Amino acid sequence: MRVASQPARATRPWPGARTGQSGLTAALALTILALTGGRCGRVRGNFAPRERPPLSKSIGLTVNGARHEVAADADTPLIYILRNDLNLKGNRFGCGEGVCGCCTVLLDGQAIQSCSTPLAAAEGRSVTTIEGLGDGAAPHPLQQAFIDEQAGQCGYCLPGFIMGAAALLGRNPAPSDAEIASALDLHLCRCGTYDRIRRAIRRASQQMSENRERLA
Ligand code: FES
Ligand code: FES
Repeated sequence: MRVASQPARATRPWPGARTGQSGLTAALALTILALTGGRCGRVRGNFAPRERPPLSKSIGLTVNGARHEVAADADTPLIYILRNDLNLKGNRFGCGEGVCGCCTVLLDGQAIQSCSTPLAAAEGRSVTTIEGLGDGAAPHPLQQAFIDEQAGQCGYCLPGFIMGAAALLGRNPAPSDAEIASALDLHLCRCGTYDRIRRAIRRASQQMSENRERLA
């Protein structure tokens, strides 16, 4: 008979509290680990620390006009360096396989997909991300045109489109609709705002042409 003032026993005790056997087993395992440094029997396969491959030498690159030295494996995708090491979150990770255009940046003025470009390919070269194009205070004509045309819906794809368009306008200041479609064929917009994106690029092209005439 149970005394009324005693607390009722838990019907489902914590693991190991039922017989004490699991606790003894755990203590024995910890003792073996401590004595062997994790180098024994099946413990070795489960818990031994994995060898980390040696880091490459520091790799130098210029990003948005600023020089950086990055200590990372040479085959690290460039997007990880930009987003994680340099805190440039403007370029987006989409497919990760070079087929959606989300992560497009400029490498010496050429559009590349930073998810499928290794850090080593950028060594000694100049990278431009959407942050380097312009900002809220002084937007690039492309950024302003995308706002004016309300080219985005969710906006996830837009940094990639804008950087792809910047590369296009760099080599062809007045592209036709067909040339825009061809140059940006890789880029995907899940919201389907392609018409507005095309209008924005043509608007930016016009604006940049007027700017050049003013400066001439
Ligand atoms: S995330 Fe790089 S192309 Fe899709
Ligand atoms: S605006 Fe949403 S994916 Fe392009």
